Amino acid sequence: MTDQSNETTSQTPTQTNSAWGGRFSEPTDAFVARYTASVEFDQRMYRQDIQGSIAHATMLCRVGVLTEDERDSIITGLNEIQADIEAGNFEWSIELEDVHMNIEAALTKKIGITGKKLHTGRSRNDQVATDIRLYLRDEIDVISGELTRLQQGLIALAAKEADTIMPGFTHLQTAQPVTFGHHLLAWNAMLERDYARLQDCRKRVNQMPLGAAALAGTTYPIDRQYTAKLLDFEAPTENSLDSVSDRDFAIEFTAAASLIMMHMSRFSEELVLWASAQFRFIDLPDRFCTGSSIMPQKKNPDVPELVRGKTGRVYGHMISLLTLMKSQPLAYNKDNQEDKEPLFDTVDTLRDSLRAFADMAPHLMPRRDDMREAAMRGFSTATDLADYLVRKGIPFRDSHEVVGKAVAFGVAENRDLSEMTLEELQQFSDQITADVFDVLTLEGSVAARDHIGGTAPNQVRAAAVRALDALKAR
Ligand code: ARG
Repeated sequence: MTDQSNETTSQTPTQTNSAWGGRFSEPTDAFVARYTASVEFDQRMYRQDIQGSIAHATMLCRVGVLTEDERDSIITGLNEIQADIEAGNFEWSIELEDVHMNIEAALTKKIGITGKKLHTGRSRNDQVATDIRLYLRDEIDVISGELTRLQQGLIALAAKEADTIMPGFTHLQTAQPVTFGHHLLAWNAMLERDYARLQDCRKRVNQMPLGAAALAGTTYPIDRQYTAKLLDFEAPTENSLDSVSDRDFAIEFTAAASLIMMHMSRFSEELVLWASAQFRFIDLPDRFCTGSSIMPQKKNPDVPELVRGKTGRVYGHMISLLTLMKSQPLAYNKDNQEDKEPLFDTVDTLRDSLRAFADMAPHLMPRRDDMREAAMRGFSTATDLADYLVRKGIPFRDSHEVVGKAVAFGVAENRDLSEMTLEELQQFSDQITADVFDVLTLEGSVAARDHIGGTAPNQVRAAAVRALDALKAR
C-alpha cells in the first residue's frame, strides 16, 4: 500500500457503503476504510472465494432458493471475474474492503441484481473461514509435494552413500564413525514425521464452515452436506459459533511448519559447517551459492543460511496467531482478519525453503576422502576397542578405563589407535591380540552396528529401501 498515513480525515461524504449503508448516516472515514481493509492481502484467495461462491450458488439452486437461470448467470459471472483477475483486468478497491466484497460487487456490476442474491444464507464470516480452509488445503498439498521431493533426493543420495564413512558427533566432538548415508536418513526420518504431521493437520483443515452464516446458522433450507461434497470437504463443521471463530487449524499448521523449519534449520547448520574449509565434508553446487564482492576466494552457502534465518519468522507467526486467538470471545471478531498475513507468509516461507532444499539435496557433493580422514582423526573407534575387550571378558567399566589410557597415549604421540603397534596396545591390556586391528578399522566399526536403525552399510541400504517404499505408499 502507498503511504497515506498523513491523511487522517475523510473525504467529503457522498455515499454510505453499499454493503451495509442502510443503517449508516455517513460514509466510512477514508483512513478507517484503509485501516480496516484487507483486500491488499486477502485478494490472494480469489480462486477459493469464487470456488466457494459457485458451490454456494449451486446448493441454493438445488434447495430452491435460486432459480436455475440465476444460478447459471452467477456461475458464468464468477468465472468471467476469475478470468479477468488472472488476465490482470480486475480493479481491486480499498473501499470494498476485502476480496469477498470486491468480487461480489464486480458480479453485480456484470450480471445485475441477480448478483445481489449470491449472499443469501451466507455471511462473510463463514465465507472467509471457508476460503482460508480451501486455500490452506491447496497449499498443504503443494508443500507436501515439495517435502516428498526433498525426501526422494535425500533417500537416493543415502543409498548411494551407504558405504561412505564420516565421523559421527556428539557435542560436536568426534564420537563414532557413521556412514554418510545413515546421516542423510536421519534427516529423512525427521521429515517423515513432519509429513505425517502435515497430513494430520490437513484433516482438521478439511472441514466446511459454510452454512454457519454470521454465527448462528441461517433460516434458509440449506444443504450443507451437499456444499461440502461440491467443495471436496470431508464434512460440514459441527457448531456454527465455533465454525466462524476458531483459527486453531491455522495455528496448528504454523506449528507443523515451525517443526519443519526447525529441522531444515538443523540441516542448514550442518551444511554450512560441512562446506567450510575447516570441515570440508561437502561441496555445494555453485548455483546454490554466492560469492563475495571483496574476497575473491569466497563461496558462501547462502541457501542454507537463509533457510536457517527464515526459521525465526515462522516461529514468530505461530506466536502471532496464538496471541491473536487467545482472548477472543465467541464468535467472529474482526481480530481474525489478522490471521492472514502470518499464515500466508508461513506458507510462502515454508514452500520456498522446501523447494530450495529439494532442488539442492540431490546435488550435494560429498568429499569422501576428507570425511574418512576426519573419522580417522578423532579416536572414533575407541568404543569398538572397549567392546572388543568386553568380548574378551573384561567388565565394560574397566575396559573403558584401559581404552582411555590408550587414547591418552595416542594424543601424546599424535597417532590413532589403529596406527599403534600390537606391542604398544598390549601395554594397556594383555587381552589384546592381533585380531584387534579388525575392530579398529573404520569399516569394521560401522559394519559391526548391524541391526535395524544401525549404521552398518547393509542396514543403511535396507533402510533406504523402506524409506522409499513409505514415499511410494503416499
Ligand atoms: N475481511 C474479513 C476477514 O478477513 C472478512 C470477514 C468480515 N466480517 C465482518 N463481519 N466484518 O476476517
